[in-house]
Amino acid sequence: MEILDGKALSDKIKTDLKTQSETLKKKGVVPALAVILVGDDPASQTYVNTKEKACNAVGITSIMHRVCSSTSEEEVLKIIDSLNKNPEVDGILVQLPLPKHIDTSKVIEAISPDKDVDGFHPFNVGRLVAGMDGFVPCTPFGVMKLLEAYGINVRGMDACVIGASNIVGKPMMNLLLNASATVEVCRSSTKNLKEHTLRADLIVVGVGKINLLTSDMVKEGAIVVDVGINRNEEGKIVGDVDFANVAPKCSYITPVPGGVGPMTIAMLLTNTIKSASRRQK
Ligand code: GUN
Repeated sequence: MEILDGKALSDKIKTDLKTQSETLKKKGVVPALAVILVGDDPASQTYVNTKEKACNAVGITSIMHRVCSSTSEEEVLKIIDSLNKNPEVDGILVQLPLPKHIDTSKVIEAISPDKDVDGFHPFNVGRLVAGMDGFVPCTPFGVMKLLEAYGINVRGMDACVIGASNIVGKPMMNLLLNASATVEVCRSSTKNLKEHTLRADLIVVGVGKINLLTSDMVKEGAIVVDVGINRNEEGKIVGDVDFANVAPKCSYITPVPGGVGPMTIAMLLTNTIKSASRRQK
């Protein structure tokens, strides 16, 4: 069994990105990411703070818009409009989830596809489905980079994705399809989930349920990627996989923390530098 070390790989990627941002700066382009956080959800605040620190570490300017939870949809759309028009902003990220009075789809569609470093705009979603270049959502993008770095080619593999969200499951399905895997998408409510997972050479799970994937659900030699982030009764961060019992059966497995999480951040920075590289001085 080998650990897929997302922390180590993300550190290496960030070192490369720092060099790229320094090169861009010499050409007069200062890469910049704008982040909009509506409200004070503690998890979202933590994620946004982590993103801000990561930007600073690689020389990307982070422009923070922290607004209160009662901010109107119109106000959020106005902020996005001004960021779309600002030539010095390369990426725009609206932290999700948004308060209920704000229409998430409307907000995502308001972001210029050229600055959509989350890859959530239907323009970029469509390009991913069609196998065309565009911005790819950071978490599934990070999973693919992690597999690639360990020389894992998914071509011909039976892959089982558990979770069908727009942020993780659906783009994960498309990336695996584009890489010539055979893909099944399940959810925590799938009947006889075990029947599906037992067939899989590769399992990617991200639904937010502690111990959803147990050792009896995993075939010997499978690759397991855990996208879950949960806090257990002791306050420790754990994934969706019963790691202690599943790991001995795997050829490769990601830990939580230190697996997919740091890769997500590294891909956000990668997408921002990609956007900045396109900018004409
Ligand atoms: N909330 C949870 N994950 C994400 C993400 O990748 N991007 C944004 N914008 N919000 C999120």
